[in-house]
Amino acid sequence: MKARFTALKGAPDVLPPETHLWSKIENAACEVFCAYGYDEIKTPILEPAELFLRSIGSSSDIVAKEMYSFTDKADRSISLRPEGTAGVVRAYVEHNLSLRPAPQKFFYRGPMFRYERPQKGRQRQFYQIGAECFGTAHPGMDAELIVMLMAFLEKAGLRGFSLELNSIGCRQCRPAFKQRLKEFFGPHLDVLCPDCQRRYEQNPLRILDCKVERCSAVRAGAPLISESLCEDCRMHFGTLLGLLDAMETPYTLNPQMVRGLDYYTRTVFEVTSGQLGAQNAVAAGGRYDLLVSEFGGPETPALGFAAGMERLSDIILSATASGQAGPEVFIASVGGEAAAAALKTASALRAGGKRVEVGWEGSLKSQLRRADKMGAGHVVIIGGDELKSGSFKWKNLKNGESGETAAGEIFKLFI
Ligand code: HAM
Repeated sequence: MKARFTALKGAPDVLPPETHLWSKIENAACEVFCAYGYDEIKTPILEPAELFLRSIGSSSDIVAKEMYSFTDKADRSISLRPEGTAGVVRAYVEHNLSLRPAPQKFFYRGPMFRYERPQKGRQRQFYQIGAECFGTAHPGMDAELIVMLMAFLEKAGLRGFSLELNSIGCRQCRPAFKQRLKEFFGPHLDVLCPDCQRRYEQNPLRILDCKVERCSAVRAGAPLISESLCEDCRMHFGTLLGLLDAMETPYTLNPQMVRGLDYYTRTVFEVTSGQLGAQNAVAAGGRYDLLVSEFGGPETPALGFAAGMERLSDIILSATASGQAGPEVFIASVGGEAAAAALKTASALRAGGKRVEVGWEGSLKSQLRRADKMGAGHVVIIGGDELKSGSFKWKNLKNGESGETAAGEIFKLFI
């Protein structure tokens, strides 16, 4: 009996024409990031599970519920990476990249894995494109990174997105804030969901991020971190906002944003799109000034972001005329003798960078129908008559213009 397989739930194939759009998005990222001094880094998909536990945090949903982890043949606990930052930080420390002149800037792209409940814009295997910058504590770098993200999203074709910002303090001011949160949530513990009861002990900041309705209701009057920031954090955030204003980069302050990963300090941000529904974050990031030293490296301020490819391409696809990228030229080849001429003509055009399809089979009529269905720009007809006369008929399918051109000259039509 033959076997028939389907992809795992939440791990979908990405097919053309979407793959064209993905390339376009990645090219836009490479171009923009490169201008800002970022170089590509490739880290493995497999990492020690501990790496994520120690960075994203055991109180986060990602580590508590969503990791793909297994024990390998040598009895090591391994995880498929749920995000890119931890691996890049590991690589930065492992290869002593702090010895290179600061700032060190990297970007990456690739699949990430989280065991989430799949829905539109939320997959178990999804792709991120992200950037990380090491070695600068100056808020100018926060502004630069955010402006770079905006430039990338615009270049990729995204419109109508908005930026939300917050500062979640540092190791000086956060402990007092956590204490204030504990005092606030303490009397409501029995109302909070079981996860938040656990978060209350492990990291009460996480309660601010809970999506369960009764937890949102309780936290309505919770203290805001902005009221607890130390002078340095306040100055840092104020300078960043001033720079974004100077750059005329619009933003909204969201004093309740804490982000779902534990490594953040100071600046956090999210870019959302109204076109996405529930899973509306297209990109997100922030500072993580303590992570490099927690991984055994020197104290190194750092920051970054990651954007979700599926979400980006969903929005851009729905905003642009969708449909397969059709051939610029379709060569209808009729009869056995036409094959060589068709292949030669197609090769010449392809060498010039044109996207060309040859209709090897079927009558002229069926080939023309196929060219039309594929959304071809032009058809060139090569059959017995054309071979005899040495000139090929052609038609522009977009404006109806048609003509006949000498075989050797045909490529000039498309230059
Ligand atoms: P994150 O917010 O977990 O941050 O993910 C960043 C982006 O990845 C999200 O805004 C979303 O577009 C996309 N994303 C996340 N989960 C899924 C999913 N299940 N399906 C589809 N898309 C998803 C991070 O991962 C941090 N590492 C960002 C960062 C880099 N912070 C500093 N540097």
